[in-house]
Amino acid sequence: MKIAFFDTKPYDKPSFDKFGGEKGVAFKYFETKLNEDTVNLARGYDGVCAFVNDTINDVVIDKLSEMGVKVIALRCAGFNNVDMKHAFGKIHVLRVPAYSPYAVAEHTMALLLTSIRRIHKAYIRTKDFNFSLSNLTGFDLHGKTVGVIGTGRIGRVFIDICRGFGMKVLAYDKFPAKGLDNGDTIRYVELDELFEKSDIISLHCPLTEDTHHIINQTALEKCKKGVVILNTSRGALVDAEALLQGIKSRKVGAACLDVYEEESDLFFEDNSGHIMEDDTLARLISMPNVLVTSHQAFLTEEALENIAETTVNNIVQLFNDGQCPNELCFRGDSAEDCKTGKCF
Ligand code: NAI
Repeated sequence: MKIAFFDTKPYDKPSFDKFGGEKGVAFKYFETKLNEDTVNLARGYDGVCAFVNDTINDVVIDKLSEMGVKVIALRCAGFNNVDMKHAFGKIHVLRVPAYSPYAVAEHTMALLLTSIRRIHKAYIRTKDFNFSLSNLTGFDLHGKTVGVIGTGRIGRVFIDICRGFGMKVLAYDKFPAKGLDNGDTIRYVELDELFEKSDIISLHCPLTEDTHHIINQTALEKCKKGVVILNTSRGALVDAEALLQGIKSRKVGAACLDVYEEESDLFFEDNSGHIMEDDTLARLISMPNVLVTSHQAFLTEEALENIAETTVNNIVQLFNDGQCPNELCFRGDSAEDCKTGKCF
């Protein structure tokens, strides 16, 4: 099986070569992202392997299908960048539903601790032998209330970590998990209550029509003064302009962002020699209480191995058995023939 691998980074190759080599899947690595301009590179391949910032819209899907490409193997969990409805009946879409919820949840806590204990400031000071503690006062997490939106795999690991710190948890999920609410230290509440009572809010839900800009001006107005916003999920969950205004008005005490709505042309690349065109991102990054990492939360050795192994297994299963448990499918208007039963 020959797979065209888009948006390749050096850290992708060792694990994909290892698992691909074991299972007879040959990857051709392209540095470019998959989009309308680059889709022709996939000609002659059995499938494409894509990541979070590839643009898999109707045009790309039609072109892939026309060229006889059978499968889009996403090497990530989220699939908001794929027009799933359009893909139905034309091409198989596979994903890696879970690879290491610990990687993302631990990165979220790393950002939170770095931010509120001013580690990013202290690191730079002590590198310059500046041992002053002025303006480095933080606050204890113990006893604080964290609002967790999305209590799936990553959200639940993050809740466990927060409970280890002695924090109280207010949770919100469209589909609450059974047995999580203990009526005391972990409680499911409506969004408004979560906004009103949380000292820290962390986003762990997918990006959908329901969750687009779930943190916007109206939400921020309901929040406590000094609220800390954590987003390691998807950029468009947060209205970045509203967040910036919240920071400027001092309503938001700090923000830690691993994702950004307009990240696709910026994140994962070295833009240090370029003029930053995105004024909102530039202004956010300039703030002393905003930390930005560039979609790094997944990046652990364990996660990279799991991603490669699952992606290769997905491809092999689909080509050998005609179906794969990690296939995604958006049930169209006439979906009686849906084989996976996992329609969204
Ligand atoms: P999951 O599918 O296990 O959990 C998502 C949870 O969100 C589910 O409990 C679901 O019921 C809930 N949900 C769905 N719609 C909702 C709504 N409208 N309001 C509130 N909750 C809603 O997914 P998992 O593995 O925990 O991943 C969560 C998100 O993390 C992914 O969607 C992805 O966007 C992001 N992610 C980010 C990474 C990074 O490197 N920064 C890496 C991996 C995932």
